[in-house]
Amino acid sequence: MHKHSPESSIKVQISEISIGMFVTGIENNTRINLTNAGRVSSEAGIQSLLKNNIKFVWVDEGLSDSKIDFSTLTTIATEDSQPAKPIAESTQSLRNRRKNNVKGTTAARSLVEEAKGIASKVINKAFDGQAFSVDEFDAWADDLISFTLTDKDAIRLVSALRSKDEYLLEHSVSVSTLLVTFARYLGYSEAELKQFAIGGIIHDIGKVKVDDKVLHKPAKLTAEEFEHMKMHQTYALDLIKNIKGLSVISRDVCLMHHEKLDGNGYPKGLAGDQLPVHGRMSSIVDIFDALTADRVYKKSMSPQEAFKILLGMTPNHLDSNLVYQFINCLGVYPVASLVELSNGRAAIVWESNQKHSKKPIVKSFYSIKHKHFTEIEFKDLAKSDLTIVRAISPSEFDFDINDFIH
Ligand SMILES: [Fe+2]
Repeated sequence: MHKHSPESSIKVQISEISIGMFVTGIENNTRINLTNAGRVSSEAGIQSLLKNNIKFVWVDEGLSDSKIDFSTLTTIATEDSQPAKPIAESTQSLRNRRKNNVKGTTAARSLVEEAKGIASKVINKAFDGQAFSVDEFDAWADDLISFTLTDKDAIRLVSALRSKDEYLLEHSVSVSTLLVTFARYLGYSEAELKQFAIGGIIHDIGKVKVDDKVLHKPAKLTAEEFEHMKMHQTYALDLIKNIKGLSVISRDVCLMHHEKLDGNGYPKGLAGDQLPVHGRMSSIVDIFDALTADRVYKKSMSPQEAFKILLGMTPNHLDSNLVYQFINCLGVYPVASLVELSNGRAAIVWESNQKHSKKPIVKSFYSIKHKHFTEIEFKDLAKSDLTIVRAISPSEFDFDINDFIH
């Protein structure tokens, strides 16, 4: 993207605009700085400005085609020599936002790497029947908590780093991040958030004892294989005895994420009041993450489709009230989910808008109608006429959506 400063632009009558001029703002009654400033590339572009009743445009001479003779233009004296308040976010601040996201991605990557390291160490020790202490997670859990606090896009960044082959580790990190986010939303204390983070990391620890062929089967499990897979919770009962200092929350997250409110879950078939809130939360988060993950044998679902499934599992399996709170916590259009905009573009939800959940900042990159990639544009829907038409499942496309999340 070119660097330009709206203040250094000159005001030109629309009748004098020509192809090659670099337009930074438009004016009808008041000046509007453009987020998507750029060179006029065709007669059609000029026509659309005329059609939209634009009277003047702001042109940056330095960035315009050098063949254009600016000396012949009638420059309009302007009462607002001060830069206008942009209705769209300025290119500069969006650029900074992108930079911050890159920083966030690096932080997320090191957190995920660290978590994977800890998880595999713990898994190995568990496999060998060695004891280990919860202190081994301590520094990492602190980092995860401060990361999810300072970067509300933590989930997007973590989910962008998952790959199909390291599913178990990445699912654990993702469940941790989601649990911490959800628990913070519900008002749990900092100390409890830590216990959720640890619970998330170890929640599937029992899978170390599951037959590799079943664990890594690149297809849906048969009924018999599924029964074997379910054993991971029975193994977990034993394995977590080796973890010193494990809190009740961490333990319950690990042991209750496959229990159901009606008592038809496993390993213990706990029902109703036997399942504390943190146990109920762990099943919601675990199912949501599994549904929205891309696996070798199944395409990922959009968060909205997953929300529907979660709601369909209430009240027999999941706690209705908690499912609603979980949906509110992630937002109608969670970060990293895909949407179709009113201009026919596909976009990734980039940053949530706490006040108007339907007007997040999005990153558009693809024309659904013409089936081709477009220039990447960040749009703040709170400051744009564009709206979200529908949520899209990533499986509608044959490219990897994660390539666009960074
Ligand atoms: Fe599990």
